[in-house]
Amino acid sequence: MINKEQLNSNIPEHVAIIMDGNGRWAKKKGFFRAVGHEKGTKAVREAVEGAAEIGIKHLTLYAFSTENWNRPKLEVETLMRLLVSSLKKEIKTLQKNNIRLNAIGNLQALPEKARKELLEVIEKTKDNKHMTLSLALSYGSREELIKTIQEISIKVKNNVLSPHLINEAVINEHLYTKNLPDVDLLIRTSGEQRISNFLLWQIAYAELYFTEILWPDFKKTDLLEAILNYQQRERRFGKTSEQLS
Ligand code: IPE
Ligand code: IPE
Ligand code: MG
Repeated sequence: MINKEQLNSNIPEHVAIIMDGNGRWAKKKGFFRAVGHEKGTKAVREAVEGAAEIGIKHLTLYAFSTENWNRPKLEVETLMRLLVSSLKKEIKTLQKNNIRLNAIGNLQALPEKARKELLEVIEKTKDNKHMTLSLALSYGSREELIKTIQEISIKVKNNVLSPHLINEAVINEHLYTKNLPDVDLLIRTSGEQRISNFLLWQIAYAELYFTEILWPDFKKTDLLEAILNYQQRERRFGKTSEQLS
């Protein structure tokens, strides 16, 4: 098992995780899918504490996609219920570790109770400085880009912005992630190798890491494994290897 002493000082500033495999984990054990989601919340704690321990500044977790609204009503209700109970339970962990909660996504689509609880925890943790934990809830990258284009179009129409001034910074300002740096490392569990409408713009130069581990089994050491793997890569950003050294 690896430990954090094996890592060097090149800790990714922004790590994003597609937490996948709750349903398959439950099925394998003969449980209802809900049991997998429940166990998945324990893995969230592992990832959050693990990230805070090694000094990751931004952790973004894909918790519920715009497409996940199409799941059976009962499963959606379970996930929303778990969101509320986890927020109630985890506020202590967030305060203890000096973590600020943030949310990205179309929060208006969330049930009133979940949105209220979420905004409350965001407010209570707003001065925490050690790490930002962003939960992607009712998040879809295409929805985010449509919103961005609509907002920018309105500015252009009202002569507040001239089209030739639209650049990366302007687009960044309109994304849900406006206060976050680009993603350095994207992790997906459960063996699936796809992006599923997550942070399409923000992962332009992220390193991708896929693991077979199902999300409910994810532990701190699995995060360390991913970081260690990240540290063995050379990020060239279009340059040659020689230019970097
Ligand atoms: C991830 O696990 C949790 C959410 C998408 C909300 P899944 O529920 O997608 O689990 P699998 O992919 O069916 O195993
Ligand atoms: C992606 O997982 C969304 C979250 C992890 C919240 P899904 O399980 O919904 O993704 P697909 O549909 O299998 O790609
Ligand atoms: Mg899945």
